[in-house]
Amino acid sequence: MCGIVGYVGEKQALQVVVDGLRRMEYRGYDSAGVAVVADGRLDVRKKAGKLANLESLLGSDPLAQSTTGIGHTRWATHGGPTDANAHPHVSADGSVAVIHNGIIENFAELRAELAAAGVVLASDTDTEVVAHLLAATLPEVGDDLAEAMRIVCRRLSGAFTLVAVRADRPDVVVGARRNSPLVVGRGDGENFLASDVSAFIAHTRHALELGQDQVVTLTRDSIVVTDFDGTPATPNAYEVTWDASAAEKGGYDTFMAKEIAEQPKAVADTLLGRIDVDGRLALDEMRMTDGELREVDKVVVIACGTAYHAGLVAKYALEHWTRLPCEVELASEFRYRDPVIDRRTLVVAISQSGETMDTLMALRYAREQDARVLAICNTQGSTIPRESDAVLYTHAGPEVAVASTKAFLTQLVACYLVALYVAQVRGNKFGDEIAMVVRELADMPRKIDLVLDTTEEVEALAAMLQDARSVLFIGRHVGYPVALEGALKLKELAYMHAEGFAAGELKHGPIALLEDRLPVIVVVPSPRGRSVLHEKIVSNVQEVRARGARTIVIAEEGDDAVVPYADHLVRVPECPTLLQPLLAAVPLQVFACAMATAKGHDVDQPRNLAKSVTVE
Ligand code: G6P
Repeated sequence: MCGIVGYVGEKQALQVVVDGLRRMEYRGYDSAGVAVVADGRLDVRKKAGKLANLESLLGSDPLAQSTTGIGHTRWATHGGPTDANAHPHVSADGSVAVIHNGIIENFAELRAELAAAGVVLASDTDTEVVAHLLAATLPEVGDDLAEAMRIVCRRLSGAFTLVAVRADRPDVVVGARRNSPLVVGRGDGENFLASDVSAFIAHTRHALELGQDQVVTLTRDSIVVTDFDGTPATPNAYEVTWDASAAEKGGYDTFMAKEIAEQPKAVADTLLGRIDVDGRLALDEMRMTDGELREVDKVVVIACGTAYHAGLVAKYALEHWTRLPCEVELASEFRYRDPVIDRRTLVVAISQSGETMDTLMALRYAREQDARVLAICNTQGSTIPRESDAVLYTHAGPEVAVASTKAFLTQLVACYLVALYVAQVRGNKFGDEIAMVVRELADMPRKIDLVLDTTEEVEALAAMLQDARSVLFIGRHVGYPVALEGALKLKELAYMHAEGFAAGELKHGPIALLEDRLPVIVVVPSPRGRSVLHEKIVSNVQEVRARGARTIVIAEEGDDAVVPYADHLVRVPECPTLLQPLLAAVPLQVFACAMATAKGHDVDQPRNLAKSVTVE
């Protein structure tokens, strides 16, 4: 959702800002705008639609030259995606321009106050009120934009990142944040503000985390941070570990295709350094003592979307390996149902972006109830890990496509590691058993690579099925969350009806959906080990086939029992049942990506979706 960039330095600001916005396109947006400070005035251009629309406007009506500027991509909340509602918003007197991400909850009251004072509002947005309030406050504080920002922020409720510039200060950019993301990029003779580091990674890898309720003032050579009351604050500095090329397509047609292909490396990187020479797990970042982990009597996983599906897999692994009860809850539902948690509950918050508002609010609620929160996150310096007691970073690298792929696989790996670690500390499993699973995990990148060899056949299958009205996905045990994830991917990318079911549940209702040639994708567990599970699903495949549906079966190499009932067969290598999601999810990602391509959809930026959902 909404991407924000601010720049002050020696380069032409417009170029830096538009490049930054392009790198954050993946966040999802429906209009874009820029403002630069030049010759004592603000020069603003904004346009509904994609960045290309803004660029063609800039081509026909160029901006003044300037080395200070701000830019925004907007995901509409208050007011439709029109030119007028696009950011930046400028105060009536033309003195201040502001961009915003989040929702100002008391905006109606503030709008009424401004209207009563005779201000004519030019848009339907909650953001515009901030521009007028800043302009009205500036004369009271000697035209100090940072002080005006602090005063205005104290009056706002809700979630916001705000970035503002003043017409008569060509060398200052001021930002503020509460709940929504904002990071600082520290350059040499130039500084940056952005919703995430990808916007400035081509210029600097030095980043600063801003805390909650802080205001930052940038000039070319200085970065000053205070809280909303003006008390100085010291932001945490960190180095971004990847470079600009990691967030580029690198020869692939889409980011999604590239990210699917990167999965073996992402999984290997997430395992790296977490296993000591004796095969024991060493999760130093967990920041929880063995004593604390031994006291835990329940695990609750909170997450949204794809991360929620990783959480569902975690439940099987955690309960099996640690014997601790585990609940998995959609973060948006969690805090509203009065959940039973206390200081002995370990809450695991899974989030690729580390900024998902639903997950953030759920974790804050959990901490208020004294629960310990462990974040599993892919984005260094983001809000969710910062507000958690402990963090285990996934090392997927930047994930740009809106539909999550490599982040999902690395979330699974992190969940397995946490479960095994808890089992190790609590003594639920013998060291050699843990070492055996760890060896299997270490072999997964190779096996994922083998699954990627099936890409062409899965793509051909998708092309053949592109006119299907609906696709159903079924699985049992950990195959069930994989089925849910396969269906989610198809909904997100192909905009078609797709649903995932527990295979055993089919007969309790969904079987009524089956009709002639309806594609049903079946995730089949290994015939080794829990063979009962396998037998049951073979029966389910037969039930589906008997009703005329078309079966697409994902089964382990050498599993011949399913062959007679499969219209199409996709093979995955042998592996322990609990780890199979790392393999079975891959053809489903490829399927959804290919289906969207066949339908001519934008694979990386599906309609209406945002990668980082920073509103509740
Ligand atoms: C959005 C994205 C999904 C993602 C979910 C959770 O809905 O479109 O792909 O799974 O948010 O995001 P997170 O960053 O918290 O993992």
